[in-house]
Amino acid sequence: MSATPTRPDRIAVLVSGRGSNLQAILDAIDTGTLPARIVGVFSDKPSAAALERVEPALRWSASPKDYASREAFDAALGDAIEATQPDWIVCAGYLRILCDAFVERFQGRLLNIHPSLLPKYPGLRTHARAIADGEAEHGASVHFVIPELDAGAVVAQARVPVRPGDDADALAARVLEVEHPLLLAVLRLAVAGRLAERGTTTTLDGHALFTPLLLDSAGALRAPGANGPV
Ligand code: GRF
Repeated sequence: MSATPTRPDRIAVLVSGRGSNLQAILDAIDTGTLPARIVGVFSDKPSAAALERVEPALRWSASPKDYASREAFDAALGDAIEATQPDWIVCAGYLRILCDAFVERFQGRLLNIHPSLLPKYPGLRTHARAIADGEAEHGASVHFVIPELDAGAVVAQARVPVRPGDDADALAARVLEVEHPLLLAVLRLAVAGRLAERGTTTTLDGHALFTPLLLDSAGALRAPGANGPV
């Protein structure tokens, strides 16, 4: 008798702040809409509100200032993550740049949610920059992490309009509303074993995705131009 293959459903989450994306994952697991388990929540900010969202046994945090170097902190973080044997590691509001050795250690199972329509606006202050440039549209992207900041293969995006009179906070709130369903939709593909990173390309069911999937108004992901959800 052959063993039943296990689903890649063990998720580690990296956080630095309030953790609304983490909460969306927890809620989806609770309501049975994301068949996954959180194996650990990791933070570079021991006071992060996000940590309070999970039981203490799942929390790991440390202050980078207590380590000799960026590499030493990321090595300790990486060891703690590896001990939980995650299939996927999700940066959900993790505000510290990861060093190359960390990214290479986990490459292929390291995802990030970023509040812009990458490749536009990598880095910080994305909402204010989009408004200053007069963009009509803004949004969020989930991408594989590579050593270059916010430059990995984009899996999926969600778009929102920029409205007249928007300030950065108003636009950030509109983007955050689509971030949660976007992240959940990508994680559903990930834990179903449908998603992979091949070089600088995302694959879905083994086929290269040449343009990111798009979140529709029903919270489903579609390939641009396709009739049905993926
Ligand atoms: C989100 O906008 C995410 O895209 C960005 O940081 C924010 C985190 O929000 N990377 P939260 O901590 O998940 O509420």
